[in-house]
Amino acid sequence: MHDPDPVHSMLRANTELATASAMLAAVQSGLIEVLLQPGPHPDPAAESGLDAEAVQRVLDLLAAAGWVEGTEGGWTAAGWLASADEALVAPWSTLGHLFAHTAQFLRTGEIAPSAPRHYLPANVERLARMQASSTSVLAAALPVVHGRVLEVGAGSAVWGIALAGTDATLHVVDDAHVLPAARARAEAAGLGARFSATAGSLFDVDLAALASERVVCANVLHLFRPERAREAVRRLASAVLPGGDLVLVDALVDDPHGAADRAAYALQLRLRQPEGTVHRGPWLLDAVRDAGLVPEPIVVLPEPAGLGAIRATRR
Ligand SMILES: C[S@@+](CC[C@H](N)C(=O)[O-])C[C@H]1O[C@@H](n2cnc3c(N)ncnc32)[C@H](O)[C@@H]1O
Repeated sequence: MHDPDPVHSMLRANTELATASAMLAAVQSGLIEVLLQPGPHPDPAAESGLDAEAVQRVLDLLAAAGWVEGTEGGWTAAGWLASADEALVAPWSTLGHLFAHTAQFLRTGEIAPSAPRHYLPANVERLARMQASSTSVLAAALPVVHGRVLEVGAGSAVWGIALAGTDATLHVVDDAHVLPAARARAEAAGLGARFSATAGSLFDVDLAALASERVVCANVLHLFRPERAREAVRRLASAVLPGGDLVLVDALVDDPHGAADRAAYALQLRLRQPEGTVHRGPWLLDAVRDAGLVPEPIVVLPEPAGLGAIRATRR
């Protein structure tokens, strides 16, 4: 291997840094949201109230990076970015605030002051849409449950609904802010009469008193550092009846698209959650065994990439 050419390396550093700053600035300034409106946009600077020359410089970089496309009629966001817009759980402005906080995070380790405090029905509904194909895949892979299903950190209850048999009851535990989303989805799925809910934290609610044939917890453990996540698994396991199972869903699978997606997800998580972290599949299998359950191999789920599920039974 030859040492890299210093001038070429300097150019690479300058280009990558300039591109990253242009991307973040386009998100923070609202330029991206203007370009995501139906276009083309002949004068995005005027539309977004930004400086025309500055916008031109940033757009040239974004075009080179495949974020925007320039035609004779004007500028538009790239098709993949419009598609990302449909799946975003929080608005672009929230992402901009979070990532703009990275330098301060390096200094203090503190989350962004602007980080949302609660999930809201709109956020968890978007999460539900993003995971729709995975919920069907997992439902087909697991035995049907006829008794009680308890979903903790349920959000829209998309997992609990998919993993409950047609005659099962569903009880959800979550923050009071999101319970309306769970109730609405359960009613739409025809489960309204078999649905009930408790508002509160999984660390405070007596989960053992809600013991069920199936306990589901999806995309929640990554909100907690390992010791707390282990405690959460113990509490969840305490609610599994003999013969029943615990189903955990999270970003457990090494990302097929490479390390960058996982590292970016982990950074984003930590910028908004004081304990946010991505737990690896083998670590969670171990935590489940510690809690006295017998786990099966991880089920790899299709969307989003990296999502996986663990089913663990109480014998
Ligand atoms: C990323 S969302 C996942 C929602 C849903 N399970 C899904 O996969 O679409 C995390 C959910 O966990 C809830 N949550 C966070 N901390 C919690 C806690 N300590 N106890 C119970 N729920 C919690 C949030 O309110 C939110 O609804």
